[in-house]
Amino acid sequence: MPTPHPPPAPSLPVWDLPTRLYHWLQAVLVASVLAIGFLAPEWWMGIHVWLGYGVAGLIVFRLVWGVFGSEYSRFTSFIFSPRQTWDHVRGLIRGRPPHSIGHNPLGAVMVFAMIATIAGIVATGLIALGGEENQGPLAGFVGFSVGDGAKEVHSILAIALLVMIGLHIFGVFAESWLGRESLIRTMISGRKRLPPGAALLNPRPARRRAATVATACAGTAIILIGALAGTVPASGLIAMPRQAAFQEECGECHEVYHPSLLPRASWLAMMAGLENHFGEDASLSPDTDQAIADYLAKYASESWDTEAANRLRVVDGAAPAQITATPFWKRKHGEIEKSVFETKPLRGRGNCAACHQDAGSGRFDDQMIAIPEPERPSL
Ligand code: HEC
Ligand code: HEC
Repeated sequence: MPTPHPPPAPSLPVWDLPTRLYHWLQAVLVASVLAIGFLAPEWWMGIHVWLGYGVAGLIVFRLVWGVFGSEYSRFTSFIFSPRQTWDHVRGLIRGRPPHSIGHNPLGAVMVFAMIATIAGIVATGLIALGGEENQGPLAGFVGFSVGDGAKEVHSILAIALLVMIGLHIFGVFAESWLGRESLIRTMISGRKRLPPGAALLNPRPARRRAATVATACAGTAIILIGALAGTVPASGLIAMPRQAAFQEECGECHEVYHPSLLPRASWLAMMAGLENHFGEDASLSPDTDQAIADYLAKYASESWDTEAANRLRVVDGAAPAQITATPFWKRKHGEIEKSVFETKPLRGRGNCAACHQDAGSGRFDDQMIAIPEPERPSL
């Protein structure tokens, strides 16, 4: 006689819809923002930043839902003692992890670690954006060196998050296999099998209205503070008047380089030797020369706190007046095909404005880079 099928195990709604939506949306957003951060060219930074704001918004929602969500979404439902965590690990080692209805203790550690890491990545990203790029709500408050340090931490945390995601996925598969229930499916359907003989707890329902109000208040406050902070002018840029002589005389043979692109000593040396300026005679009347030299000295890289000014301040000792000889310039442009610089719309590596649409302002924002298509030779 065939053995009858056992009755299907009773299942319980564990993950409410907002938690499931949060989980999968966050998975997609975090994967995209990490992929762009690690792999995409610099001019994708605008997209990276907007996705980052999306990730931050989801984190805010998750924090609210951790307070007002239904039972298993609440943080208080998955805070475990070290002893419970250790019991779980021991069970895992023996291949028989104790059944958990909501997050198991290790999963809970991972949830808190990932939320904290993502929050840290968002915070350091905002500091880096404000300090290094003079963009975003913190542009008026953070200097370059702080932003540069934050960027290091931002990258290290991003690598840590990659490792956590790897562990999380491994953990999900391992626990699914050992517990004979697909945790991926439970995060889609929201339902989880009840262990035999388990007493049905009295799960707390979600407080949807409180959650909606809290999310709306937190969201509005953050957007208002961000918008208000964003009205403070970027700290790295100073007001620079146009000088007609500089624009005319120095724009005769090539584009007018922004004074922030070389340090004072380099400009003064260049202005003192214009009769042999890269093999050309660019000499001026003494008055004009002096006026331009004063102007360049005043607005040289030392006066700015932009990324370009900070990086290009370190010049090449053998060619101190050549922006394109600085170690940073060479590093940043080393991967661009040499032939690109020879194509028609570009003509020469010193033609910054051909690729940097904002070269005239000295900003050199990542989003403003566009390598021009070479003009096709007409047949
Ligand atoms: C007579 C033409 C001429 C005039 C006028 C002129 N330059 Fe130049 N400049 C050149 C040439 C040629 C080069 C070398 C270009 C190259 O090698 O790509 C050059 C290079 C430079 C560079 C280095 C760019 C790089 O590739 O890093 C700077 C900076 C510069 N000039 C600044 C000035 C300033 C400031 C003035 C005004 C005082 C000025 N130039 C006026 C012809 C001129
Ligand atoms: C052929 C196009 C091209 C030209 C010409 C060019 N650049 Fe760039 N520049 C780029 C690209 C592409 C990058 C991004 C490189 C990377 O992936 O890091 C870049 C990056 C930079 C950065 C770093 C920006 C950041 O936020 O990371 C600075 C500063 C910069 N360039 C300055 C200059 C200056 C100054 C000149 C002219 C002397 C110049 N560039 C000429 C294409 C160009």
